[in-house]
Amino acid sequence: MLERKLKDVTMRFSVIAPLLFTVGAFVLGMLALFAGSKAGFMEDYDIVTLNTSTLGYASVDDPSPTSSGAAPSATSFGSWLKGTAKNVTSQVKEEIEEEFDEIRNDIADKLADKLGIQQWYSFHLMDMCMGMFSPNATAHGATKNVSQCTNRTAMYHFDPTSQLQQELDEGPLAGKINLSDLGYTDDIQDGIDGLNASIGATFILYCIGIGAAGVLILTTLAAIFLTGRLFSIVNFFLAVLSFLGLGIASAIVTAFMIKITKLINDHGNDIGIYAYRGKKYLAITWAATGAMLFTSLVWVVLFCLGRQQAKKQLAEEKAEAVQG
Ligand SMILES: *[C@@H]1O[C@H](CO)[C@@H](O)[C@H](O)[C@H]1NC(C)=O
Ligand SMILES: *[C@@H]1O[C@H](CO)[C@@H](O)[C@H](O)[C@H]1NC(C)=O
Ligand SMILES: *[C@@H]1O[C@H](CO)[C@@H](O)[C@H](O)[C@H]1NC(C)=O
Ligand SMILES: *[C@@H]1O[C@H](CO)[C@@H](O)[C@H](O)[C@H]1NC(C)=O
Ligand SMILES: *[C@@H]1O[C@H](CO)[C@@H](O)[C@H](O)[C@H]1NC(C)=O
Ligand SMILES: *[C@@H]1O[C@H](CO)[C@@H](O)[C@H](O)[C@H]1NC(C)=O
Repeated sequence: MLERKLKDVTMRFSVIAPLLFTVGAFVLGMLALFAGSKAGFMEDYDIVTLNTSTLGYASVDDPSPTSSGAAPSATSFGSWLKGTAKNVTSQVKEEIEEEFDEIRNDIADKLADKLGIQQWYSFHLMDMCMGMFSPNATAHGATKNVSQCTNRTAMYHFDPTSQLQQELDEGPLAGKINLSDLGYTDDIQDGIDGLNASIGATFILYCIGIGAAGVLILTTLAAIFLTGRLFSIVNFFLAVLSFLGLGIASAIVTAFMIKITKLINDHGNDIGIYAYRGKKYLAITWAATGAMLFTSLVWVVLFCLGRQQAKKQLAEEKAEAVQG
């Protein structure tokens, strides 16, 4: 009898570890969902960040010789910049490397201001935030200073193109310049639109994963006080549901991240746009998934142990009945 009671107590305490992991997954899932949904809230946990501090600035390293005949037209800022960049190159060729970098950095830091756009745009699950780099775009270890975020929506579709165009239209060069002048082609937004379709489901998957984890916290607490095989099996199914929701969402976001950075870097690097993957976001979303995988495994073990114990108990009771 004493042995049985002791076993009961250990069974009760064996749910503490999965309980802690479930709470961890719930919190991390919430953070993944809400990161960046308000200006300044977990801005570093973005899915992808665009660095537009050099947009319109054709590569200074361009080895093609300067065409002195190319006069810049008043309406084309892009070609004007290209001309400037090339003149800078030819000048610099006679000077030392350090100075070259200085000039390059100087241009890089002022371009966005001249165009009236922001230096970075970051995509979160429910919105897009933007702002300038602090202290400046080229400083080592520059941080993101948020100026604003778009309104939060459940299934946000990443659209940096219309944001950029809108800012150009309100900027100091309004009416004189549009995105296509800067070499920004439709290929970029067309590609993003294709990928946006895949990201729509992730919001729902996160909600399923987080919701199942939330219910599991309650049923795990119940399992501490009421042992029973029903709880093991219910908890196992909730854990697996949460694991699948978070895992599939994480997989989709990871694929999205890889594809979109490649797309934007392929089409954008030549015109001065750079895309970076959100490594911190990946860390929290996969940590949540891992926690639920662990929890699912624990519940399967607890279910099997419970079954073994029940069988043993039944056998003991039968033996007692025969004796009596
Ligand atoms: C570049 O240099 C050429 C000749 O040196 C000059 O005609 C042209 O105006 C310069 N372009 C710019 C944008 O300053
Ligand atoms: C950017 O900031 C760094 C560090 O504050 C500074 O050394 C550098 O001169 C700045 N660059 C420009 C172009 O202002
Ligand atoms: C962020 O930007 C605002 C204005 O846009 C500025 O007042 C503030 O000093 C900036 N913060 C940092 C840390 O640079
Ligand atoms: C933004 O891109 C420019 C051009 O590649 C680069 O020089 C700068 O360091 C980048 N800034 C940040 C904060 O990543
Ligand atoms: C964002 O929300 C505010 C207030 O809720 C509203 O006035 C504004 O029109 C919205 N902006 C967009 C782009 O929907
Ligand atoms: C952008 O400007 C160029 C001329 O500067 C014009 O030919 C083109 O149609 C404009 N594109 C859009 C989308 O307004």
